[in-house]
Amino acid sequence: MGAWAESLELRVPVLNAPMGGVAGGRLAAAVTAAGGLGMIGMGSTATRDGLVRALGDLDGCQRFGVGLVDWVVRQEAGLLDAALDALPVLLSVSFGAELDWVERAQERGILTAVQVPDVDGARRAEDAGVDVIVARGLEGGGHGAPEAPLAELLAPVVAAVERPVLAAGGIATAADVRAALAAGADGVWVGTTFAAAAEALTPAGAKQAMLGAGCDDTVTTRAYDRAFGWPWPERYPARVLRNTFTAAWVDADGADVVGGALDPAFTLDAAGLARLHRAVADDDPSIAPVDAGTGVGSIVDVVPAATIIARLTAGL
Ligand SMILES: Cc1cc2nc3c(=O)[nH]c(=O)nc-3n(C[C@H](O)[C@H](O)[C@H](O)COP(=O)(O)O)c2cc1C
Repeated sequence: MGAWAESLELRVPVLNAPMGGVAGGRLAAAVTAAGGLGMIGMGSTATRDGLVRALGDLDGCQRFGVGLVDWVVRQEAGLLDAALDALPVLLSVSFGAELDWVERAQERGILTAVQVPDVDGARRAEDAGVDVIVARGLEGGGHGAPEAPLAELLAPVVAAVERPVLAAGGIATAADVRAALAAGADGVWVGTTFAAAAEALTPAGAKQAMLGAGCDDTVTTRAYDRAFGWPWPERYPARVLRNTFTAAWVDADGADVVGGALDPAFTLDAAGLARLHRAVADDDPSIAPVDAGTGVGSIVDVVPAATIIARLTAGL
């Protein structure tokens, strides 16, 4: 195993990606117990109190990370402070240009990470003193800049920076992990595959939809962000499972859409928005968003995080 993972006393170079509404304290604790580093994720609807609750679900686990989203941190009073006060091993604030939080974390001995979609982003992060760079390929689930597949992004990022680099996006099998490490990654940052873990907060209907989905059943869209009124920067659409909601808003030919068919002034009428909220409340994945990357096609069962880690690291 590589020096970076060893320096963190990990037994396997695997982190679960911070995933809002999915990666709570239970999943993070399970990943850490299995030898990786578990991350709590706080996404578009994060609040300070929500983070405090998730931290309470760590059940005594002391080694964990926290991942936040830049625009949410700037909007939600006390969220960043609560993350800093929790003294995670690793803090990420992703999807923003300002890295003013990095120094505040490091002053407390917290390692910092950001997800980047290109070499420029990696260099900027390194220049700002970020400790760990996460090279995130366009295969990844949830939000991210869909700029290059991981196979094209990873080696150039590794070559461009001296900091440790984690690979993210579409990593779902032991072969994917081996390929990432062979390309120079110090570890892997895995989202979608853990979103279906037994300990994940993902609702049951969404997990079932993930089990039934193939690798071509995702689409990159801004439709949900616009519908919910979330101010995600244009650069960061989300990869989700295709469903009847996304079908109504993406290109007719089914190609991944990054803006294209979406009217910038897109809004839902009141009835449509009510239907969407009801689908979320009812865990109806035919309308509600299910964040998932292309690796969803490799998920065949709902198993504990420890089993996922054993599978991902088989033969390492
Ligand atoms: C269900 C889900 C929720 C996510 N939520 C967040 C989040 O709250 N904050 C964040 O930084 N990244 C989030 N992401 C993105 C991940 O950090 C990461 O980029 C992605 O999961 C990696 O690709 P993969 O899903 O193919 O493993 C989310 C991803 C998924 C699948």
